[in-house]
Amino acid sequence: MTTQKLWLRCEKKPFERRSALTPTTAKKLIDAGFDITVERDEQRIFDDNEFANVGCKLVDNNTWPTAPADIPIIGLKELPESDEPLPHTHIQFAHCFKTQGGWSKVLSRFHRGGGTLYDLEFLNDPTGRRVAAFGYHAGFAGAAAGALALASQRKGNKLGQLVPYPNEDAMISSVKEVLGGTGKGVRALVIGALGRCGRGAVDFFRKIGLEEDDILKWDMAETAKGGPFEELMDVDIFVNCIYLSSSIPPFLTKEQLQGAGKERRLAVVVDVSCDTTNPFNPIPIYNINTTFSEPTVPVDLGPDLPMLTTISIDHLPTLLPREASEQFSSDLLPSLLEFPQRHTAPVWTNAEKLFREKLALAAKEEGL
Ligand SMILES: NC(=O)c1ccc[n+]([C@@H]2O[C@H](COP(=O)([O-])OP(=O)(O)OC[C@H]3O[C@@H](n4cnc5c(N)ncnc54)[C@H](O)[C@@H]3O)[C@@H](O)[C@H]2O)c1
Repeated sequence: MTTQKLWLRCEKKPFERRSALTPTTAKKLIDAGFDITVERDEQRIFDDNEFANVGCKLVDNNTWPTAPADIPIIGLKELPESDEPLPHTHIQFAHCFKTQGGWSKVLSRFHRGGGTLYDLEFLNDPTGRRVAAFGYHAGFAGAAAGALALASQRKGNKLGQLVPYPNEDAMISSVKEVLGGTGKGVRALVIGALGRCGRGAVDFFRKIGLEEDDILKWDMAETAKGGPFEELMDVDIFVNCIYLSSSIPPFLTKEQLQGAGKERRLAVVVDVSCDTTNPFNPIPIYNINTTFSEPTVPVDLGPDLPMLTTISIDHLPTLLPREASEQFSSDLLPSLLEFPQRHTAPVWTNAEKLFREKLALAAKEEGL
């Protein structure tokens, strides 16, 4: 049997500290007979030496374009824009299968180079569910951002810049501290609580000390009656974690918030789902995505009403890069172990079939 090679490239997206492989998963792959090369990367949350210590070969940053064409390149986020043809096989999120801006240009690089793209967003198990996703830590970090915003607002301040935490414990103790030592007494409602993001949000609230009765967990059954929901007026933080797939009545409206007057308890809305520009957005009280440097946007409800802010950051797991990477990479591991059988293993053959379909559309679009 020939050794399966895999090359972990650096990330070039600003602030992206996560990694598709971690020292833990790299070691498991090496134990299974893989040969792993890792590009040095100061941006990555893991030290280069953590990879060297488990037997990975270290190479210079951003040298994958000169790697032998038969070595598959694994990364997380999209490559910097370029016209260079791509001859390698790439495993990554490319954000080009849903006709996003620039989709055909990205795919045309594969067309011209003869490379293959396995998009991490489209690696599915036999039930059609994604094998690896960042949802849990998106919900976890979203709930943390919500609690931080609440603590700031209670002091009459606006939440300042968010900075990634070295690990989960550091995040939890820092949030508890700004809440005066514990989150006990805070009341939160999570919609989509049975999903990946929702479970992360619920776990975060537990870990900072909210009483179980103060974490309202809603999913399909609880929203079946149709919004807007008055129950939302009576919590401090509302975290939306649903997977929106069709038009639904809004969960919350501006009129409802204005009607609630000065008695409203709701202070922070965290829209983890971030369907900001979707015409069916069930939280039509804001219309921009917020960022790590400006995490909150105030909801304009007119004068004399308690403050309400929204958080709608679309890359929340970046706030917890170590744990988010560990979880994603360990979920991906069983599929990576099947990579040597990629011409027969459904998780890979289905992803390649989708790539070939999108590639043909892109070639047509680009007139190739
Ligand atoms: N902001 C970020 O950084 C970030 C990161 C990852 C994922 N997301 C987004 O979060 C969303 C959820 O992702 P996920 O992986 O948790 O999905 P998921 O499929 O695991 O969970 C979604 C949950 O929402 C529930 N749901 C769907 N419609 C509902 C409704 N009308 N009322 C109540 N519950 C409803 C489902 O039953 C399910 O339990 C997606 O839109 C995803 O793109 C955001």
